[in-house]
Amino acid sequence: MDIRKLEDWYQKHHRKLSFRMTQNPYHIWVSEVMLQQTQVDTVLPYFERFIQKYPTIDELAIADEETLHKDVEGLGYYRRFKNMHLAAKYIKDHHQGIFPKTYEEVIALPGIGKYTAGAIMSIAYNKPYSALDGNVIRVLSRYLGNPHDMREEKNKKVLDQYNQQQIERSTPEVYTQAMMELGAILCRPKNPKCEECPLNTSCFAYQRNEMQSYPYLSRLKEKKNEFYITLIIHHNEGVYVRKRTETLLNGMYEYPQFEFESIASVVQFLEEKGITLVFHGESSTYQHIFTHKIWHMIVCHVSLVGKPDSDWIWITIKDLDNIPMSIAHRKISIFK
Ligand code: ADE
Ligand code: SF4
Repeated sequence: MDIRKLEDWYQKHHRKLSFRMTQNPYHIWVSEVMLQQTQVDTVLPYFERFIQKYPTIDELAIADEETLHKDVEGLGYYRRFKNMHLAAKYIKDHHQGIFPKTYEEVIALPGIGKYTAGAIMSIAYNKPYSALDGNVIRVLSRYLGNPHDMREEKNKKVLDQYNQQQIERSTPEVYTQAMMELGAILCRPKNPKCEECPLNTSCFAYQRNEMQSYPYLSRLKEKKNEFYITLIIHHNEGVYVRKRTETLLNGMYEYPQFEFESIASVVQFLEEKGITLVFHGESSTYQHIFTHKIWHMIVCHVSLVGKPDSDWIWITIKDLDNIPMSIAHRKISIFK
């Protein structure tokens, strides 16, 4: 990556936002926490008011919880400020109210994760620690043409390592802000302004005009819904089960079940085989979630008139505990 070009671009074009006029780690921390889930334009007035009202960590530490809640109302996700309040108290008690200087101490604070720690270390202290947020992920996956889904931790780690290598060759405070600013004003989710981008000559996506293909999102695998009528067929002191021959749960026992629309169609289907069902009261419903499908079961307690189906096996209720049965059916109560 051409760091010179990137940094020059930032010096020339970045927005002069109020949280960029400071190197105060506490103020950087406040801005980064606010920016995590809220847009820059919304954050600015809140940031300025907050810093005026709580200019030091000690003042934040002694803030009244309810007042604090009110002060950030409108930004949403209050939990982050609750954590910040806790961290402020911790800093007051353990660091004499002075924001800690090492990465290890910073990341140990409540609510501060890898991203926030990296942002504070680089922006406030000019130390080379990667801060990979959503903006930077978008820039890097396009720049590198990384074809993997960044919602997966192992893929994000690859970008984080790359980002770390780059910041080690840079002026950290400029690099971190430059990457974020690039993501915010040029490498936007839609219609990136690649012509103005300092990275365009070596950007994988731009060179192929494939900006929209990155960051890659795999289709979320939707679970298939399957609907069954499941029969608990009572007979003497036992019930009927069948042994599965399907690939899923092969060889395990289950209560006979039918992938039919309605109980009526099961009744009709069995009638045609000479099997008559007598229903015992109301049906109940069960669900079982497999990795790739969901069984929705309407469970009916019945007894038989006539002979059972040829693949049904009678088993005593006592022995039921000793045969292999999937949890999908194991969790069905055989008592009404
Ligand atoms: N989003 C999170 N941190 C940011 C920053 N320092 N500048 C712009 N956008 C951001
Ligand atoms: Fe993003 Fe376009 Fe720059 Fe590539 S050239 S990093 S896609 S703005």
